Amino acid sequence: MLQRQPRAAALAVLAVIVCTGPPGHGAQQATGSEGAVASRSPQATEVGIGVLRRGGNAIDAAVAMGFALAVTHPSAGNLGGGGFMVIRLANGELVANDHREKAPSKAHRDMFLNDSGEVVDGLSTASHLAVGVPGSVDGLLSVLDRHGTLSRGEVIAPALALARDGFPLPADIAAQFARLRPRFEPYTASLAKFTRADASPLEAGDLFRQPDLAATLARIAEHGRAGFYAGTTADLIVAEMARGGGLVSHRDLAEYRSVWREPVRGSYRGYQIISMPPPSSGGALLIQMLNMLEPHDLATLGRGSPAVVHLMIEAQRRAYADRAEHMGDTDFYDVPLGMLMAKDYARHRFADFDPQTASRSTDIGAGSWPDESAETTHVSAMDRAGNAVAYTTTLNLGYGSKIVVAGAGFLLNNEMDDFSSKPGIPNSFGLVGAEANAIEPGKRMLSSMTPTLVLKDGEPVLATGSPGGSTIITTVLQVVTNVVDHGMGIGQAVAAPRFHHQWQPNQVRYEPGAISADTRMSLERIGHIGFRETPGIGDANSVMRVGGGIIARSDPRNAGAAAAY
Ligand code: GLY
Repeated sequence: MLQRQPRAAALAVLAVIVCTGPPGHGAQQATGSEGAVASRSPQATEVGIGVLRRGGNAIDAAVAMGFALAVTHPSAGNLGGGGFMVIRLANGELVANDHREKAPSKAHRDMFLNDSGEVVDGLSTASHLAVGVPGSVDGLLSVLDRHGTLSRGEVIAPALALARDGFPLPADIAAQFARLRPRFEPYTASLAKFTRADASPLEAGDLFRQPDLAATLARIAEHGRAGFYAGTTADLIVAEMARGGGLVSHRDLAEYRSVWREPVRGSYRGYQIISMPPPSSGGALLIQMLNMLEPHDLATLGRGSPAVVHLMIEAQRRAYADRAEHMGDTDFYDVPLGMLMAKDYARHRFADFDPQTASRSTDIGAGSWPDESAETTHVSAMDRAGNAVAYTTTLNLGYGSKIVVAGAGFLLNNEMDDFSSKPGIPNSFGLVGAEANAIEPGKRMLSSMTPTLVLKDGEPVLATGSPGGSTIITTVLQVVTNVVDHGMGIGQAVAAPRFHHQWQPNQVRYEPGAISADTRMSLERIGHIGFRETPGIGDANSVMRVGGGIIARSDPRNAGAAAAY
């Protein structure tokens, strides 16, 4: 268990890390004064820092990294998925781009139920019906167009080169290909992409070339959104849909547009919290939980103490219960966003908090938890001018639907599983929902992605976010409280072990070291149940400003990289 340390001491530790840590690229932590980026993929981080060095801003860097991740981090980086980007512009303006996938126009509420009204296992995750209309390409191009400084060709060029020329396959990705081979086998293009030409396994160190993906990137570089949502790429997507009874049509693709949204804003102990609004639940839940915690002195109670873990579990339990009831796509459902994020509401919602007793979650069914990796991936970037970007993108589960579009070389998402297929029946993350998140044509499925910026007096302090399905929001909560309450530098704040509760199932998931045996015993004595130790919650690649420096930190749970200069 990490001990709380005074803020000044934490900063001193940080200074030592910065001075002695490995400088430049490929490091887990890097410091500079001009710009910094962090991501799950060393190659994507290299692309991002290269863009900054060439004079691009943090937005150019994030967009270039988004395209690069589609090549170098295929489990979550994508052209065939969606994401959210929260941006603080150098002029102080705050904006958010929503490029979440949409339900195809032929989708309908009960599309994943059988004649008896039961959810058909796997239909919303491992079939062509699982695919939502992809949003990433429109989103990245729209962001670049509005707030970037480089040309489309310039930001796509590094990704295109990586796809065309290849890169040595990292061991962890080679292992993923091998493990998922049975899931790729039903799809000829998937098997071909993730094995050698003779269908033998790709090994670590093999040059991983993706010529079809390179051709798709070239079409996007040349034609912009029409290079994806029309013409050859659209034809290939629709042909792929036809092969497996999927619903995404030419019209769905032509009509897809990312949306500029007002970020949600909260405050926490004098910091401004800027995050993603619906269709993500992430920002609102983060702000709601921080509001519930704010009246309590977490710093004095001590990080990892029974009192603080109890407080945080109870805040998480209530927020996730509200998520299930109230949250969905605001373009289709009247989400009481103002109420959920109000400090008065948090006081009222937390009024029944009892420091001596765990609340009850009505437990439903078998407590479910993803049996597939909850991939998604997060990029943070800042530049000297004051632009700050938190960008989270996903195919949903690792490698999405596992379906590669034949001839186009990219994976399709299985984001339809983020809808509530049936009220009260958990999705792959054990999350339940109801009317607010029911399937409707053209609706965006509810997300947990929480790309977040923390500001002080309007200036960016922290950019963070994470993958992890339902655990994304509690991961970001812990990074923020580690920094704000517990005075940690970004290295410690990201590395510190995490725990997670989501109301249903009534379980406390925790990484080794997050909850000590003594703390667990204290919590069990007051009624907390369902403790499950689990490795690797989240991957919170973050960037933080300290004094005149900018520090990038990739999450040590994975083989990502931070770079700064
Ligand atoms: N697909 C995971 C999420 O958006 O929350």
